[in-house]
Amino acid sequence: MEKQVLNVVDSRSNNRYEFAIEKGAIRASDLRQIRCGAEDFGLMSYDPAFLNTASCRSAITFIDGDKGILRYRGYPIEQLAEKCTFLEVAYLILHGELPTELQLKNFVAGVTEHTMLHEKTKNFLEGFNHDAHPMGMFISTVAALSTVYADARKVLDPESRELQIRRLIGKVPTIAAYAYRHSLGYPYIYPDNDLSYTENFMNMLWRMVEPKYRANPVVARALDILFILHADHEQNCSANVMRAVGSSQADPFVCTAAAAAALSGPLHGGANEEVLKMLDEIGSKDNVRGYVEKIKAGHGKLMGFGHRIYKNYDPRARIIKWAADQVFVATGRNPKLDIALELEKIALEDEYFIKRKLYPNVDFYSGIIYQALGFKPEMFTVLFAIPRTVGWLAQWQEMLEDPEQKIARPRQIYTGYDAREFVPIEKRAVRAVASR
Ligand SMILES: CC(C)(COP(=O)(O)OP(=O)(O)OC[C@H]1O[C@@H](n2cnc3c(N)ncnc32)[C@H](O)[C@@H]1OP(=O)(O)O)[C@@H](O)C(=O)NCCC(=O)NCCS
Repeated sequence: MEKQVLNVVDSRSNNRYEFAIEKGAIRASDLRQIRCGAEDFGLMSYDPAFLNTASCRSAITFIDGDKGILRYRGYPIEQLAEKCTFLEVAYLILHGELPTELQLKNFVAGVTEHTMLHEKTKNFLEGFNHDAHPMGMFISTVAALSTVYADARKVLDPESRELQIRRLIGKVPTIAAYAYRHSLGYPYIYPDNDLSYTENFMNMLWRMVEPKYRANPVVARALDILFILHADHEQNCSANVMRAVGSSQADPFVCTAAAAAALSGPLHGGANEEVLKMLDEIGSKDNVRGYVEKIKAGHGKLMGFGHRIYKNYDPRARIIKWAADQVFVATGRNPKLDIALELEKIALEDEYFIKRKLYPNVDFYSGIIYQALGFKPEMFTVLFAIPRTVGWLAQWQEMLEDPEQKIARPRQIYTGYDAREFVPIEKRAVRAVASR
């Protein structure tokens, strides 16, 4: 193919430059060649919130936001959700190919081997208040694993990485279930390794005095599908945190805790919790139109709507809507669904949302399923963090293996004072803080 280039003329110097275009991008560091004199640092690009900056090359997840396409390692999300188990998809995301039967068997055994928490880590949870937010408990406990597995610091050793990956995938459901039971004051249930990944999670959440937990297969499958849909989403806020923290070669437990912290915010994974609060606030179908008008007038956002990348229907939301119907057969219909459907209908017909390409995202319907399963909204983001751990680890691994990656360190455009004289405390007056 003919070499693609970008020709640039700097109006300050009239100098001409030629930059190679590769996969639709130029290298930002090439811009440094553009200088006005020997003292000049060179041109930078300014991109708050990374609106137009690719920070890595990645072969994990593909999203076409305009067409509403999501693929893991090339496979459409719809096919994976229909035909695979969550751990099969986890293997695909981490290793790049769908597993053979033997590979899957070994991977499942490898993950299942690590479902137990160290008793000291379990006791650590006792330090939290009964009303502690489960996401805070989850983040802290994942970080605390770093104190148990000192070998995790060998991040450049592929064998050690594989072990930590299995440990983390094995333990996050246990931590999530313990956080849930802690807030209810129930005793913790040890993992049952005879069960599948999601069945065992349900066992640790809901088993009471029965000697053997029997998971409702419809609910177990729906949870598995939800886990598949949430497993990765390329360079979102939390994946970016995982890569940034991991780039300092911190161990994967603290990296995952940092990524989970990013996920907890209401503009990211915390949105599913906010959706339920919003539906509660709306109260009934009749109030939907008035609520939408308030949003259009600038009073808040419609939670579970909009996406930085999807400017068309989020394909995950479509599958979740289908999964909701399956779950409601087992649990009974969540009455909030009617409010959500009305909200979606009104918003999708409204010029404000059409013009801004705002569609329901993955968080819009997931909370309604979680609530039907008996979870309080505070637990929703934890349920997101379990499967997303797989995506974070795949992103982390890919970053460490990429010879082009270094410690993540953006530049800034300094807008503060020039050098000024120090003022002794007795001579200082109250001054307005310099603005940007
Ligand atoms: C996801 C989100 C953070 C993406 O943000 P973004 O790409 O930075 O988009 P912007 O904030 O620039 O939004 C563009 C326009 O749409 C509006 N908008 C975006 N999301 C909106 C929402 N959920 N409700 C109402 N208006 C919204 C913005 O106000 C802005 O309007 P303007 O052009 O008149 O200023 C944003 O859509 C949002 O906050 N959604 C609600 C939270 C949510 O569901 N998060 C989960 C994501 S999976």
